[in-house]
Amino acid sequence: MPSVLITGANKGIGLAFAQSFAVDGWKVHACCRQPDKAKGLQGIEGDISIHKLDVTDGLRVASVARGMLDEKIDILINNAGYYGPRLGFGEIDYEDWAHTFQVNTMAPLRMVENFIEHVAGSERKLIVNVSSKMGSVAENEGGGAYVYRSSKAALNVVTKSLAVDLKEQGVTVICVHPGHVQTDMGGEQAPLTISKSVSGLRKLIGKVTHEQTGQFFNYDGTIIPW
Ligand SMILES: NC(=O)c1ccc[n+]([C@@H]2O[C@H](COP(=O)([O-])OP(=O)(O)OC[C@H]3O[C@@H](n4cnc5c(N)ncnc54)[C@H](OP(=O)(O)O)[C@@H]3O)[C@@H](O)[C@H]2O)c1
Repeated sequence: MPSVLITGANKGIGLAFAQSFAVDGWKVHACCRQPDKAKGLQGIEGDISIHKLDVTDGLRVASVARGMLDEKIDILINNAGYYGPRLGFGEIDYEDWAHTFQVNTMAPLRMVENFIEHVAGSERKLIVNVSSKMGSVAENEGGGAYVYRSSKAALNVVTKSLAVDLKEQGVTVICVHPGHVQTDMGGEQAPLTISKSVSGLRKLIGKVTHEQTGQFFNYDGTIIPW
């Protein structure tokens, strides 16, 4: 049975990923900060293990990885993300910017460093970093959003370097934009439902090849310029 590990799996896109893989019979490792409050995850039927994990806690990441040494992970989805306060030019909270980098940029790399053996030893060998079109330099016509944009742009650079470094081991690393989705982060007015976003992403994840490693995909499978 193939297996997937998802961070930030208690709500939004992460929870929908967990539900979707579980329905298809995958072994799901669902990570979240507060498992006791993760009612949506607790309600999922299937082969699911819930792990307590704040992705900024390096010791905890290492301990969860060590506890799963015998397990293979076919797909690692670095989904946990943080937008932070919506402050513009002249209002930047520099401490919060650092925290945003820890969640959106540094934690995905730390996850890969800790789980590389699990992924490289699996059949699928795929790492998916959930980024955002907001991190595309080419597509930035709206300006602002300094903190979130820069953290996702940096995640894209991390993704590219990982793709190069892990290519020899046969590990595929991509970053994806889920669309503007109706979640707590995306807001109620967002045009895309969670289920449309995740079904598009599942299709993409299902067919992406090793030759496509290091690319930045939209949820519909098209390429997003850096
Ligand atoms: N929604 C959109 O329109 C959109 C667009 C582009 C990209 N994205 C990206 O898609 C991903 C999922 O976002 P979403 O829309 O589903 O947002 P969401 O509903 O706000 O969910 C964010 C998830 O990340 C988790 N998280 C935040 N900080 C964490 C930490 N330190 N450790 C572990 N988990 C943490 C949250 O856990 P808690 O519940 O514990 O806070 C939650 O599970 C994010 O990477 C986001 O940047 C979303």
